Order: sequence, then structure tokens, then C-alpha cells
Amino acid sequence: MCIRAGPYVGLAAPPAYTGDNTYTEAEIDRIRAAGRIASRALDAVGAAVRPGVTTAELDRVAHEYVVSQGAYPSTLGYRGYRASSCTSVNEVICHGVPDDTVLGEGDLVNVDVTAYLDGFHGDTNRTFRVGEVSEEADQLIERTHEAMMRGIRAAKPGREVNVIGRVIETYAKRFGYGVVRDFTGHGVGSAFHTGLIIPHYDSAPAYGDVIKPNMVFTVEPMLTLGTHEWEQWDDGWTVTTRDKSLTAQFEHTVVVREDGFELLTVSD
Ligand code: MF3
Ligand code: CO
Ligand code: CO
Repeated sequence: MCIRAGPYVGLAAPPAYTGDNTYTEAEIDRIRAAGRIASRALDAVGAAVRPGVTTAELDRVAHEYVVSQGAYPSTLGYRGYRASSCTSVNEVICHGVPDDTVLGEGDLVNVDVTAYLDGFHGDTNRTFRVGEVSEEADQLIERTHEAMMRGIRAAKPGREVNVIGRVIETYAKRFGYGVVRDFTGHGVGSAFHTGLIIPHYDSAPAYGDVIKPNMVFTVEPMLTLGTHEWEQWDDGWTVTTRDKSLTAQFEHTVVVREDGFELLTVSD
């Protein structure tokens, strides 16, 4: 079996993407196949989450599953990133790098996996509870998932993509949560990030791209118990809340249909 690596591996940045963000049914089938592998990798990671496990071990679980399916872990070698997943613990908003950090009871860990198969990417993440977490953290996780689903349901042909963030921010504000603005959803498919931006806050009139049937993109809100402001570690990747408040995230790759949507990053 031969695994095809992403075309950007070894380059400082991916080659410019010139296509649009809508796909044929045959192409959507291939995004779904990649997305299923990413989702099943997260199932395997979830089964391995427990107090005492390291984020590097979770990354290994994700890596082994993706390659066992003949797919390539898209993050490996993407803009110089050196792991097969992002593992973001507690105050880490996104792009946490797997290392020897040992997870403890009460921690939150988000794991983000993208699989590349047959020329197409499927991108998904989930936030896992390590053992039992605080009530506050538990609700943050639940409501971040709900915010993602509300954003996805708001995506309909003819509307602007900024409807998604408007719905997510309105919901998050009910609970006083911070809504991260500077990391966004994105077009995904034949490129990992196509250039289409999907904000998770109310950005109107900016980001007025009109949603079309068969458009594919991610929705991946990051909500916090405090500020939406962030800072980055010297590793050039890890992004944390500025006030070190807890944060959670969920992500699906979705295709918009004439009459609704389909999740492309599901396990069955
Ligand atoms: N999977 C992430 C996303 O949702 C991107 C990770 S890029 C990396 O868009 F280089 F940090 F791995
Ligand atoms: Co993404
Ligand atoms: Co992702």
C-alpha cells in the first residue's frame, strides 16, 4: 500500500489554491471518505483519553489509525508542523503540539485530525474530558458543540457565510463566553485550507461570500470562559487564551445542500 503525502510537504507554504469551494458528487464522496477516517481516528483517540496519558500518545493513536487506512495525516509537514494531530489542553485554544505533557483528571483536551485520501482532505476535531471535569468545563464543552451545530444549521444556499458566526456568537453570548475571532473555519477539499474564511463571530458585512449548493467548508468554533484574546508560545504554534481561561472547540467538515447540510466527518 502506498500513501500519498500532501503536496505541500517540504514547502514553506502550500501551493496557491485556485479552484472554488463547490464540488461534484464524486468529489464529495472522496471528501467523505477522508472525513470518515479522520472521525474514526478521533473515536480511537477518545478511547485512549484517560488520566496519565500523554498528548504524544494520543497523537500516535491518531497517526496509526490514519495510516492504517491508507490515508495521510494532513498536518504532518503542513507549514513545517511536525505531528499528525493538534492536541490543545485547557487554556490552549488551538494548534497545541503533541509532547510529553501528561493529562490529569479534570483536564480538557481537544484533538484535531485531518486525513488526506485520494487527493481530498476531511478535517474534524472534538474536545474530550479527562476523567471528571468541573461543571463549568462540562457546560463549556456541551455548549461549544451546540454552537457548532447551530452554525452548521444556519448555512443555507443564498445566505452569506457570515450568518454562521452570527448564530454562533449570539448563542455563546447567552452564557458570557468569549468567541475566538482570529482562528476561523475554512474551505476544505482538494486543499487543506482553500482560502474561503468562515468566521465564528458576527462579522457582517465582512465575509459576505454567498453559500452555494455543494459548497464544502469547516465550522470549528472556539469558545472560552473568559477573553477571546490570545497569545502564542515561542514554538510558533500553540495558541492560548490571553487570560489563561479554559477553552473548547469542535469541528466538522460539512457540505451544504439545496435543502440543508450533510456532515462529512462522521464515523458510520
Ligand atoms: N486542522 C486545523 C484546522 O482545523 C489546522 C491545523 S494546521 C497545523 O484548520 F499546522 F496546525 F496542524
Ligand atoms: Co479546520
Ligand atoms: Co481541524
